[in-house]
Amino acid sequence: MTEQSGQNPALDNLLSESRTFPPSAEFAAQANATAEMYTTADADREAFWATQAEQLHWETSWSKVLDWSEAPFAKWFVGGKLNVAYNCADRHVAAGNGDRVAIHWEGEPGDSRTITYADLQREVSRTANAFASLGLTKGDRVAIYMQMIPETVFTMLACARLGLTHSVVFAGFSSEALRSRIDDAQAKAVITVDGQFRRGKVAPLKPAVDEAVAQTPSVEKVVVVKRGENDVAWTEGRDIWWHDLVDHQSDQHTAEAHDAEHPLYILYTSGTTGKPKGILHTSGGYLTQAAYTHRNVFDLKPESDVYWCTADIGWVTGHSYIVYGPLANGATQVIYEGTPNSPHEARHWEIVQKYGVTIYYTAPTLIRTFMKWGDHLPAEYDLSSLRVLGSVGEPINPEAWMWFREHVGRNQAPIVDTWWQTETGAIMISPLPGVTATKPGSAQRPLPGISAKVVDDTGEQVGPGGGGYLVLDKPWPGMLRGIWGDPERYRDTYWSRFGAQGYYFAGDGAKYDEDGDVWLLGRVDDVMNVSGHRISTTEVESALVSHPTVAEAAVVGATDPTTGQGIVAFVILRGGVAEDEAKGTEAITALRNHVATEIGPIAKPRQIMVVPELPKTRSGKIMRRLLRDVAENRQVGDVTTLADSSVMDLISSGLQSDK
Ligand code: WTA
Repeated sequence: MTEQSGQNPALDNLLSESRTFPPSAEFAAQANATAEMYTTADADREAFWATQAEQLHWETSWSKVLDWSEAPFAKWFVGGKLNVAYNCADRHVAAGNGDRVAIHWEGEPGDSRTITYADLQREVSRTANAFASLGLTKGDRVAIYMQMIPETVFTMLACARLGLTHSVVFAGFSSEALRSRIDDAQAKAVITVDGQFRRGKVAPLKPAVDEAVAQTPSVEKVVVVKRGENDVAWTEGRDIWWHDLVDHQSDQHTAEAHDAEHPLYILYTSGTTGKPKGILHTSGGYLTQAAYTHRNVFDLKPESDVYWCTADIGWVTGHSYIVYGPLANGATQVIYEGTPNSPHEARHWEIVQKYGVTIYYTAPTLIRTFMKWGDHLPAEYDLSSLRVLGSVGEPINPEAWMWFREHVGRNQAPIVDTWWQTETGAIMISPLPGVTATKPGSAQRPLPGISAKVVDDTGEQVGPGGGGYLVLDKPWPGMLRGIWGDPERYRDTYWSRFGAQGYYFAGDGAKYDEDGDVWLLGRVDDVMNVSGHRISTTEVESALVSHPTVAEAAVVGATDPTTGQGIVAFVILRGGVAEDEAKGTEAITALRNHVATEIGPIAKPRQIMVVPELPKTRSGKIMRRLLRDVAENRQVGDVTTLADSSVMDLISSGLQSDK
């Protein structure tokens, strides 16, 4: 564990990526971000953030930018008061932009709705009046279990307006996951739908709520939006239809200002062990950073851009980059209800063309899926409106980055690879379009106002070319304010490892290249140690998918009696190769050699298994834990958070028949 990855030829090879893409003079001339922002922020970080906060509407200004006296519990904009929902809707109407479209909503079956900022203000006001009429008051927690429909946005903003703390639970989670989250936050109400459209069919959601709520006495009311039109069971006195509750309410509501540190939301995220952590975010600092990053990282021009973030509102990306950031900035955005291959695999390109999307923010896993579906699909649509592309969620391998650039961005649109976490609240490390010369696969540099370091085991910053752990060494406005109800776990998880230095430990491995740019190498728990050499699973995956026969790859470190860990790769081969067994065997030999050539013999997978699918969560993350079970010949563990729980059977049975 103590070996210096900087001396590891394997890691150095990954970073031999030498292509850079400087911004065009034309883009740079019109960009929101400037190189000076780095210097300004470095000169006086707190003054820089105060300037960003001033972009919002505050009822009462703050007396102190940052209070870090009770570290690691931060207070930003101390004494300031604002209403987050007012900032996301009313403010734009007051500025004369009520007619601007806030949301182009696209339902999976092809229905659509257009919601202007004036509409948004009215709907949020109605919803707030409705929630108040249920007896919900400031400080109460509300669980939201809904898919991507406008009512989800109205609900979140109505909560923010009233000072209710929302807890969105991804609609793909099970009733048990919902139950434990409701229980942990002691939510008083659940807002849900009858059902959601997934791949052309209605998937009921209400039954999961009924099951969960049967065991959560804190819940007094369940509000149900009619969307799927499926039959639902009904508990009189507890359940109420959204249309019966909301539609007749007044569309006037005066927003009360809340303290900058008032809890805005809780969002649960899985830790390495135990029950999910309820990550707590508050109001003023969070909104400041969400809006600032959205404006600068995506170069948002609210008057002319059409922005689309393909994440789900159930994840933090949806919170910060569908709801709070874009709406605080008065953006026009697309929200799409369904799956990317419904009714066909070019649905996203069709939507880009239909609405003239200019900024498109998505995830590497989806980009690689698009690659698998074929280059011809984006080519069939007019994507010329796209001018900025973004990626988030995992390290993006250079191959996928280049494909995105070429086939979606027409070799013109800058790509921003944005590193952040549920815990950070907003983007932390990313290129700035118009300023940064981008590099395929690197998130590059902390944003102005943000400080991050790559450090070794002892907390010492490593030099150029060195690798280690990513830490955040200075507090930031959007940072989590703790884990709901568990301050000790907050300290232990994030602040104990580099406690001596007072750094936040992100749990990610990272490396500097010779220019000092940051490369994220995946979670530290996904970094393998083979014969004392630290090798990232991402790095091997990247090498594998750079081979023409490979569509997707996932790599795990399996216990090995000789080398500590051995590299086991699971690959999906591209059409044609997979069908032919002889070609398949040949491909495996070729791939092992390819990895050896790309990275070094040490990274040669011990074993490569050809599989038809990879186990992924609904958010698209590969569940390496399950693959590790297969690689180590164990019984496969808990599969309940898989998007498709039959995938593991498919993988296991395929492997059996190969033997
Ligand atoms: C990973 C999603 C590399 C990382 C916003 C982090 C990334 C975890 C990137 C947080 C990126 C996210 N490059 N890795 N651009 N973005 N990650 O909480 O491991 O769902 O710690 O937040 O995703 O995932 P979360």
